[in-house]
Amino acid sequence: MQEVTPVLQDVYDPASQEYCENPAPQCQALYNSGRFVYYEPWGAWCMTQLDDIMQCWKEEYLSSDFYDWEFAPPRPPEADWTNFERCMIGHSLLADHDHHLLIRKIAAPAFSRNVVDEIQRRIEPDIKQLFDDLGKPDVFDYKSEVAQHIPFISITRLIGVPEKYWDAIRPVVRNFTDTWNPTLSDEVRESARQECNIAVDIFKEMLAERRAAPQQDDVLSILLKAEEENEDFDEWDILTLILALIGAGSDTTFTFQQWTVYSLLKHKEQIATAMASHDAFANAFSEVSRWGVISKMGFARYAPRDMEVCGQQVKRGQMILMMPHLYEHDPKYFPEPQKFDVTRTFEPDIRFGYGPRFCIGAALAKRQMYLTVSELMNRFPNAELDSEPERLANETSIAFKNLMVRTNV
Ligand code: HEM
Repeated sequence: MQEVTPVLQDVYDPASQEYCENPAPQCQALYNSGRFVYYEPWGAWCMTQLDDIMQCWKEEYLSSDFYDWEFAPPRPPEADWTNFERCMIGHSLLADHDHHLLIRKIAAPAFSRNVVDEIQRRIEPDIKQLFDDLGKPDVFDYKSEVAQHIPFISITRLIGVPEKYWDAIRPVVRNFTDTWNPTLSDEVRESARQECNIAVDIFKEMLAERRAAPQQDDVLSILLKAEEENEDFDEWDILTLILALIGAGSDTTFTFQQWTVYSLLKHKEQIATAMASHDAFANAFSEVSRWGVISKMGFARYAPRDMEVCGQQVKRGQMILMMPHLYEHDPKYFPEPQKFDVTRTFEPDIRFGYGPRFCIGAALAKRQMYLTVSELMNRFPNAELDSEPERLANETSIAFKNLMVRTNV
């Protein structure tokens, strides 16, 4: 077993402005620091090599359960569980490996191609309305005027949340990921959990109403039918899944919306290629994600016991970050890595994960992004960046303060 020399902030500091302006050199430095390195500022291990990450994704030998983290709040007794804890501990998508597989199997029809087509039909008018409301300004902020609204539109339409509940669940869609974010304070995490507790009560009410008046063709209806047909799939599984959709589908969509528009407007000569078909767009989207180095921490896992991982001894509860974005700047895999090229080949394409936890919303995510960017380009075919956006260092991904677009209408 090798001696571990911790990686320090002067090698990799994603909270720095320097990283935000140009993350690739720091990613390369961390990638070259070793296969499995301890990053002292986060108190976490970083898994840097793609083969190891793919194996970890596939075999799931580490825990995805936040409560297994050494710094997580203590796991409370069942009698005291809040709504949030009942979803995250009791019937968790995250905690129990076999139950997770079962939920994925049962829920799969709710995320099929047909359902995504149907959801597209529903969100299209919302997206058009968003642009109608925008009108024809000379310049507008894509972040606040468009991107910010897309996660809410697509998640409410995906689940089939009636409009009367929209205001009440808006804060959860906005803040859910704060519930577990290790870089935030306990107070902020707790406040986000309280919002979830309220939202779960609303979702319960919504389920009761839907049982009394069933519909046919949205995710909720499919899940309620699955509940009827499977004794191992109950209301808490549905509630957990709803929270998981909100958790995994909001910040990702918000950030990637902005990066897609930014990258394409910065490389206008590639827009036609990127938008030529859904497949071309999916590829372009992978390049946006690679080139923008949007993820900072990668994907968190926790050691379920004292164990050896990638040749190093790891203690129970330690956080292990799978960081597939690091290898994407290695010229061995991506020639001229600093160049943006929507026709690059991604084999494998790990944008949406891999294995049993492959992103359940991948098809929807790409579809909603394609729809929004198409609408933008249809309305403003000569759109361009009005200015280079200011980048915010203190966020979990590289975020823009705003994204000013000049319409040139
Ligand atoms: C740009 C958008 C998105 C990206 C890049 C993305 C990426 C990912 C990745 C990499 C994972 C695996 C995480 C891990 O292994 O820890 C994942 C999981 C997941 N994603 Fe997405 N995602 C996006 C949008 C969405 C949307 C829109 C939804 C739902 C509406 C969604 C729902 C989920 C869920 C529920 C999981 C957990 C799956 C499980 O544990 O079985 N994602 N996503």
